[in-house]
Amino acid sequence: MSGESRKTAVVDKSQMEKQKQFSYKMSSVISARYDEMPKACVITYGCQQNVADSEKIKGMLEQIGYGFTDDRHDAKLIIFNTCAVREHAEDRVFGNVGSLKQYKRENPDVIIALCGCMMQQKHIAQKIKNSYPFVDLVFGTHVIHCLPELLYRTMTGGKRVFEIPDMDGAIAEGIPVKRDNGAKAWLPIMYGCNNFCSYCIVPYVRGRERSREKQDIINEFRQLVQRGSKEITLLGQNVNSYGKDLIPQVSFAQLLRELNDIDGDFRIRFMTSHPKDCTKELLETMASCDKVAQHLHLPFQSGSNRVLKAMNRNYTREQYLELIHYARELMGDELSVTSDIIVGFPGETYEEFKETLSLVKEVKATSLFTFIYSPRKGTPAARMDDPVSQQEKSKWFKELTDLQEKISAQQMKLHEGKIYKCYVYGKGKLNDNYIAARNDGNLIIEFEGDKSLIGTFQNIKVIEPLTFVMRGEIVKEKEL
Ligand code: 5AD
Ligand code: SF4
Repeated sequence: MSGESRKTAVVDKSQMEKQKQFSYKMSSVISARYDEMPKACVITYGCQQNVADSEKIKGMLEQIGYGFTDDRHDAKLIIFNTCAVREHAEDRVFGNVGSLKQYKRENPDVIIALCGCMMQQKHIAQKIKNSYPFVDLVFGTHVIHCLPELLYRTMTGGKRVFEIPDMDGAIAEGIPVKRDNGAKAWLPIMYGCNNFCSYCIVPYVRGRERSREKQDIINEFRQLVQRGSKEITLLGQNVNSYGKDLIPQVSFAQLLRELNDIDGDFRIRFMTSHPKDCTKELLETMASCDKVAQHLHLPFQSGSNRVLKAMNRNYTREQYLELIHYARELMGDELSVTSDIIVGFPGETYEEFKETLSLVKEVKATSLFTFIYSPRKGTPAARMDDPVSQQEKSKWFKELTDLQEKISAQQMKLHEGKIYKCYVYGKGKLNDNYIAARNDGNLIIEFEGDKSLIGTFQNIKVIEPLTFVMRGEIVKEKEL
């Protein structure tokens, strides 16, 4: 990759080669230290980006010679890949790491490491340094590719290692990936965020937006298809601004079209979209590409224009609705819309919250991801006046989830009698002889069928919409 084909940084090949060398050195270190193949336990919090990062972490560990376990007490290396988006996620990490104190005392050869968004915040890293002396290694989001070297330093240097450089971030290609599930794969297409929504910590801990080269994405995508991946989700904090840093620029819609043209039986999903960058071209591309799922995750966060402005979201309620109407015009009932909403942003009044409720009624989303505002140190919103009590915010939250429950149930009814191409992913819960599948809109349909169908696409007719899943039956090719 030449430095001229993009405006943002790339980790150079020599650095990646150096890490490979450390990987070999680490293989010797672990074979000298342990009698049998040591196991690693990687615990992941937060979003799919973190899941994708953990798959890289596991890829590097596998290359070194680690096996894997879900039981932290069976592991010689325990890594927590953390999330900073809300306080609740952080509290869970502190609780879980704290509970290993005694275990580490009894098993001093076990290595405990922490990484991810939480560690990229200075006050958190400091707290770990001072109050969690049994943690051996802490590394930030920009040096994941250096894990072999960092582990080597931790295991041979006799000191705790803290490696948390503060930087914009760079694209690192060529890290091995160990995927949790071959059929349903995550494929990061870009990293970082430039939006600085006033409540959000992500831009501070994940650096600036940077896109992978289109050809690198296409190559990885092809490999996934060849290895049998059926649902491939393209990941980015704001996928709609994909390619703005590439020279020449590439649009996300263009990338989607090229991936859609690849031969094979698969479905493409993507997340997350930002309304300010969601173009009509993208919606038209979604509608015209047969392998792109008709599912739009488009977070609106609030229905009040004043709150949206205070959140620094750069769109209005009216602009959001225009996008949804246009998308529905193009894709009809086939389209599933989902969204994220924050309740109780600092200074939000009940009147403003009611505007969120009214937008929820208009959008008619399939489902919503709803959150009570959580102040994040260092963000502008954390410095704003926040007079509404937590108790009051919880009441609003309940009002919102009750409303959406009714809307989801009504939306489910629209599917009765419809036939969808679904990806069969596993065992069902409704009955022992049921298996479960997802349609384009990510809705779960369970039906009576043989387990040998798991991992294939099938046409399923919806018989009975229930609350969270639908009961269906398989449709034979000739009945279509
Ligand atoms: N408090 C509550 N929710 C938040 N989100 C991001 N930051 C915060 C915060 N400080 C939510 C947004 C975002 C989703 C991933 O998490 O709704 O879209
Ligand atoms: Fe956070 Fe806004 Fe970026 Fe999403 S778009 S990661 S909410 S700053």
